[in-house]
Amino acid sequence: MVIIMEHRHHGKSSANFLDADEILTELDLKGNETFMDAGCGDGYIAIKAIDKYLPDGKVYAVDNYPQSINDLEEYKKENNVGNLFNVEADLAGEISEIEKASVDVVLMLNVFHGFKKNADEAILELKRVTKDDGRIAIMEFAPVEMQFGPSLEVRVSPDELEKQFSNHGLKKIYLNEDIGAEIPDGKSHYLMIFKKEQI
Ligand SMILES: C[S@@+](CC[C@H](N)C(=O)[O-])C[C@H]1O[C@@H](n2cnc3c(N)ncnc32)[C@H](O)[C@@H]1O
Repeated sequence: MVIIMEHRHHGKSSANFLDADEILTELDLKGNETFMDAGCGDGYIAIKAIDKYLPDGKVYAVDNYPQSINDLEEYKKENNVGNLFNVEADLAGEISEIEKASVDVVLMLNVFHGFKKNADEAILELKRVTKDDGRIAIMEFAPVEMQFGPSLEVRVSPDELEKQFSNHGLKKIYLNEDIGAEIPDGKSHYLMIFKKEQI
C-alpha cells in the first residue's frame, strides 16, 4: 500500500523560526495602510503589524482554516482591536469580504508553495484586492536543503515565482535573498515584492 503524505499547512506558524520585525520592516509601512496577511495561520504577523507598524491602518487576516480565524476573533475581542478583520476564505477563490483594489500591501508568508493547480487563481485574487499602486510581498523558503520546511520538490525558486507573477501583469520590484533563519548555506528564505504593471 502506498501512503501519500499530504503537505499539511493548516495550523502551522512560522513564529518560532521567522522574526516578524525583520519581515515587516522590509515592507516600509507608513502606519495608515490597509494590509493583508494572506494565509495568516496563528496571525503572529497580523498582530505584530497592528501593534507596532499600523497604528492608523487596517489589517485583514485571511485563512481558510476555521480554527485560526476563531482564535484570532478571540484575540480581537479580548484585546479590543478594532482595526483587525479576520476573514475565513479561500485565497484561490473570491474573498467576498475584501473589495477590489482596497489593499495597499499584501504579505503572503510561507503559503505560496502550497498552491499547486490553483496558484494562478491565488495570484489573480491577490491582484484583485490590491490597489493599483499597491504591493504584493511573497516570502518563501529558499530552494535549498535545510533542516526544516517543506520538501525541496514543493519549493518555488525566485525565478519561478517571478515568472508566475509576471504572467499576470505583476512586476518584480524588490528581491531580498538574505532573510529568515540562519542555515549552513546562508539564510532560509527570500522575499520578493511585486507591483501591478501600469498599462
Ligand atoms: C505554513 S502556514 C503559514 C502561516 C503563516 N503565514 C505563518 O507563516 O506563520 C500556511 C497557512 O496558509 C493557509 N492556507 C493554505 N491554503 C490556503 C488557501 N487556499 N486559502 C486560505 N488560506 C490557506 C493554511 O491554513 C495555513 O494557515
